Parts: sequence; C-alpha cells; structure tokens
Amino acid sequence: MNAAPLSSLPTPCLLLDEARMRRNVARMAGHVHGLGPALRPHVKTGKSIPIALAMCGGAPGPITVSTLAEAEACFAAGFRDVLYAVGLPPNKLPAVQALRARGCDLIVLVDNVDAARAIAACRTAIPTLLEIDSDDHRAGVRPGAAELLAIAAVLRDGAELRGVLTHAGGSYDCRTAAELTAMAAQERAAVVAAAERLRAAGHRCPVVSIGSTPTATFARDLRGVTEVRVGVYVFMDLVMAGLGVCSLDDLALSVLVSVIGHQRDKHWLVTDGGWMALSRDRGTSGHVHDRAYGLVCDASGRPLGDLVVAQTNQEHGLIARADGAPFDLNRFPVGTLLRVLPIHACATAAQHEGYHVLHGDAVSAWWPRCRGW
Ligand SMILES: Cc1ncc(COP(=O)(O)O)c(C=O)c1O
Repeated sequence: MNAAPLSSLPTPCLLLDEARMRRNVARMAGHVHGLGPALRPHVKTGKSIPIALAMCGGAPGPITVSTLAEAEACFAAGFRDVLYAVGLPPNKLPAVQALRARGCDLIVLVDNVDAARAIAACRTAIPTLLEIDSDDHRAGVRPGAAELLAIAAVLRDGAELRGVLTHAGGSYDCRTAAELTAMAAQERAAVVAAAERLRAAGHRCPVVSIGSTPTATFARDLRGVTEVRVGVYVFMDLVMAGLGVCSLDDLALSVLVSVIGHQRDKHWLVTDGGWMALSRDRGTSGHVHDRAYGLVCDASGRPLGDLVVAQTNQEHGLIARADGAPFDLNRFPVGTLLRVLPIHACATAAQHEGYHVLHGDAVSAWWPRCRGW
C-alpha cells in the first residue's frame, strides 16, 4: 500500500501509530525478561495477526487469547502455543478438542470442579491451568481454598494440570505507585503460594502465570513466576496514563473524527465520533484527570489542552473543555480532522474492523481485526 494522507480516510476510523506500538512492546519485553519470566502476550487487545507477531518479537510464540475465534485466527497464522484464559464451559470442549486435534497446543483454564470434571471426562489430557483469585476482583479460587486441591485431584485423572494462573485486574482500581507495587507483590504471592500448595500435595505445577499491564509494569520481583501475560500495554490508553503506567506520548491508538458542526451557546464541537467509534468506557471517572470519553488531539496527535469528548451518542461526539469553559470554536471549522485518544484501548479497538497503520502522519497499511467468539 502506498502511503496515503489522513484526509483520504473515512471518518470515524481507527489509527495505529506503529512506532509507538513497537516501543511499548520492546519496553515491556525488556522489563519482564529482566525479571526472569517468559512473556506470553495477551492478543485480546489487538486481535490482529501483525500485532500478535509484533508482541512476540516478529515470529509466532506463546500467546494468550480471550476467545476461541482469536485462537483459530492465530493458529491459522502459525501460532501453536495458545492459552485460552477465560474459564472453560463444557459447551466449548468440542471446539477445543478440534483445535488440539489439528495441532494447536491449546491450554484451557478452570476455577471449579464441574468444569474440571468435564475436561477430565474427555480423557485426552487437555492441558489445564487452575485460576487463582489474587485480589477478590473476578474469578478464581483463593490459594488456601479447599477447592484448589479438589480441582487438581479431578484433573489428575483424564486431564493434565499444567499450572496456576492469576490476573490482578484489581490493579485498575489502584491510585498510587505504592498501591500498584503492593498489588504486583500480592499477585505474585498468591499464585506462588497456590503452586507451592499443589506441589506439596504431590501435583506437578510447571506453569505459574501472572499478568496485567499495571502489575507487570510495577513488579520488582517475579521469583517463582514462569510467565507474564500482558495485553493493553501494546497500545496503552488513558486509564494506563492515569495510573502512571505510561505517559500520553506512549498512546499508540486514536480515533480519527471529523467536526460536523458547532453548538456555540454550549461551547461544544459536534463530531462524527460517537460511542460506536469510541466505546462507552468511563475508566478514568475516578482519576485525578477524568478524560470523559477520550482526550482530543489535533490531526497530528498533539493534545489540545483539556478538550475531551464530554458526551457521546451512537454516532455523535460532543467535544468540550473538561471544565466546561468556553474555547475558540472558530479554530475548528466543519470538516476539521481531530484524533481522540481512547479511555480503554481494548474497548475502543473492539468497535472497529481494523487499523489504519500510521507512520508519521501518513497511512501505510490496513491491519484487519478478528471478531466474534
Ligand atoms: C486472564 C487475563 N490475563 C491477562 C490480561 C492482560 O491484562 P492487561 O490488558 O492489563 O495487560 C487480561 C486482561 O483482561 C486477562 O483477562
């Protein structure tokens, strides 16, 4: 594809600054490898083969997926070592078995005896991780819970207990570097304790898997951990910037929108970038800098002070100053192109079919996203 100017794109559309993405990938790889574990990037943020390859250093490597559709797409592109990191219900077992029969080393996840029984009943030694709850955030069993050993005992007969996994999603609710550092230590301590308990009971537990972008970034000691799963670091977003995980200059994703009108008495610019293009994520609502539905930049990606997308309808975005104060609307005539930095990159990217890949201000490629479950 020949490089094309931004003005040739339909709006709204998704832009990806490839240089920033590669810088984010290299920084996280250096940090994690420096602490010892392997990286098993989570491809759920990008859901795109060129991005998955970039996260693995250029060639297929171990990855994490959030849907079997991602597993299928990545397997077709040459990835073999794939962890499906959402608890497995029995109705997905036929699809898991089919992928494994075709040569994909698909690993699955459970946190209850019922799901473990269904996997064990297949009698095909499906490699299975046991999900540990390290922060009371979502799923998983506590490292000291009776279920831990009960699930392992069920898996022993018919499946293969590959190890333990946790995701400290509670890190997104931290507010200070000290809290994030403590959450990273808590994540490691919980999963290592679970692994030790399983080993003491006679189980093999080769894999000890952790990961969220905030905890991985703030981790200082990963002894006992074998792999780190990180996803949103590839693009970064305003939630990560608000947590101090990155700076605004690291944000690789933006949504290109056009000004379609003005509401002068209300001090609003009206654009064609509503929630269909941005998502409705309000992840910065508790932050010092609440960016509403996104921070507004000029067409080159430079933030325009504190202009934010203050409100969204399906296909309309209303841009205002974060404090509601007047600003010079005449600087933005109808047709002006603006870029909106995402609150939560995974949610914003999910609204689009693919990425217009940017080098500087020119578009050099189109990378499709994988969809569905
Ligand atoms: C199981 C699991 N592992 C890893 C991740 C990666 O987290 P992050 O996007 O913060 O890097 C997620 C994200 O939701 C997840 O659900």
